[in-house]
Amino acid sequence: MQRFIEGLPKAELHLHIEGTLEPDLKFTLAARNGVSLPAGSVEEMRAAYDFDDLSSFLSVYYEGMSVLVTEDDFYDLTFAYLGKAHSQGVLYSEIFFDPQAHTSRGISFDTVIRGIRRAQEDGEAKLGIRTQLIMCFLRDMSPESAAETLTRSLDYKSWIVGVGLDSDERGNPPIKFSQVFSDAREAGYRLTMHCDVGQDDSVTHIWQCLNDIGVERIDHGVNSLEDARLVDEILNRNLTLTVCPISNSYVAGDTQASQIRQMLNLGMRVTINSDDPAYFPGYMTENFIVVQREADLSKSDLVRLSRNAFEAAWIDESERAGYVAALEAYAIA
Ligand code: ADE
Ligand code: ZN
Repeated sequence: MQRFIEGLPKAELHLHIEGTLEPDLKFTLAARNGVSLPAGSVEEMRAAYDFDDLSSFLSVYYEGMSVLVTEDDFYDLTFAYLGKAHSQGVLYSEIFFDPQAHTSRGISFDTVIRGIRRAQEDGEAKLGIRTQLIMCFLRDMSPESAAETLTRSLDYKSWIVGVGLDSDERGNPPIKFSQVFSDAREAGYRLTMHCDVGQDDSVTHIWQCLNDIGVERIDHGVNSLEDARLVDEILNRNLTLTVCPISNSYVAGDTQASQIRQMLNLGMRVTINSDDPAYFPGYMTENFIVVQREADLSKSDLVRLSRNAFEAAWIDESERAGYVAALEAYAIA
């Protein structure tokens, strides 16, 4: 099973590029930019990653970003992720980035996106891994700040496929951003949003994503299983849930493998993703392995999960057909 998972052609749809900042790269960038870090070693840094909920994770996540300063830093961060993903059979990845986490520290939008973009181009040319960018608004900042970020992004419209919403969900429901998401849709962006696991009002937030925002995907969204009508609506609209097992084990107490099994049984379009793999240790392969073990998934379940991601990817049909053909060839080999 492990070898089957390692070779499985994969698509990743829920990955925060800032969440791929591994401790060794953090030290390298800190030295390059003269930034001091609270930890003296990689081991000490990892030991401080003892979060057990979303907000304790987020404070470490944002603190780590202080080492990302120049365009080259964003290039190095992104290219390191692409190498890792490529080595695990990821053919295609949609990458979240959090511009406000950088512009709020005085780093320009241009610096961030140009560094990431250059690495995407090199990833495609040198490794053959295809990627697209999804810009996330930080939900614990104001709708006005999100609107400004949307406007700022329009210069780079052709580099960004869609918009998402992340950061601290508590007290920050989807409807806080109704206007900016409506404007983003008008501008031609695809729409997704985080509904993290086990938040206050998770089910209400997922309903808002459907009825008030009109998303195509929900990032996490596991609590939808608590409401049979919501499950029906997700099925009717064929919405995708991008689930992140190892991340769940840190912020929600367990991987939610049995819920993933349940979603597969219900025919929901669930996918496996790594979220913030430098903080929730495990990239795509490790995430597949843990769910396979815990939910006793068959090879055909694993192929279904991978096919779900290729089906949900924001790409044209000819590109999709190529990936699905590669997956099918692997499945019957
Ligand atoms: N930002 C980075 N990872 C996140 C997650 N899993 N949930 C919310 N915001 C995030
Ligand atoms: Zn996420």
